[in-house]
Amino acid sequence: MTTPTECQHSGDTPASESTAEPNTTPSQPSRRRFLQSAAAAATIGAAPHLRAQEQAPASTAPQSNPVVPPHAVTLTVNGRAYALQLEPRVTLLDALREYAGLMGTKKGCDRGQCGACTVLVDGRRINSCLTLAVMHEGENITTVEGLASNGTLSPVQAAFIEHDAFQCGYCTPGQLCSATALLGEFRNGTASTVTADVRARPAALTDDEIRERMSGNICRCGAYVNIVAAVRAAHEHA
Ligand code: FES
Ligand code: FES
Repeated sequence: MTTPTECQHSGDTPASESTAEPNTTPSQPSRRRFLQSAAAAATIGAAPHLRAQEQAPASTAPQSNPVVPPHAVTLTVNGRAYALQLEPRVTLLDALREYAGLMGTKKGCDRGQCGACTVLVDGRRINSCLTLAVMHEGENITTVEGLASNGTLSPVQAAFIEHDAFQCGYCTPGQLCSATALLGEFRNGTASTVTADVRARPAALTDDEIRERMSGNICRCGAYVNIVAAVRAAHEHA
């Protein structure tokens, strides 16, 4: 029976090497032997992978992301028609900012969490980052640029200025669009989750109602107190 020690000294090592690097501890492998063994193990481990690469058949599967060419889309924004060439994947937010050049609508999270991209579509507020532009042909889109008319600020815009309802202003276009729609929803009798009896028209637009109805619009500057005051004032003066 061959012992490990005997194997180290079998005839595969030239005598000159044995002389140049004596194995001073018979029970331990030499450094050269250890490196040779490690290299051989690495080669064996890598071989199946290399073979798999060599033998992999050419893929005949169709491309998973075929390019869909842009096509003509007409969006009606703030009363004006915009004839655009859009890929179907373009969001309404990107269409407004990057294609129509309406930079007032802001991109915060791009995933429906902050409300900075809020616009009105046929009077309803939506997150424009969560919807595709091609879905809104034939609808009336209103952005912050369209809230004023003939150079006169809307009641909500005027109230935001009067009540200092912004700091950096990044969330403000979305807040303004959201508040504008909120007032219409309340006038139409739409209940919210804090309305005492959701089967009846909410009796009053309380601060709790305003906070709940504006809860989809985040303000990183924390101007919430003044935003609520501005919405309340716009409602009272409407
Ligand atoms: S950018 Fe659309 S919700 Fe934040
Ligand atoms: S005013 Fe700065 S995020 Fe709202």
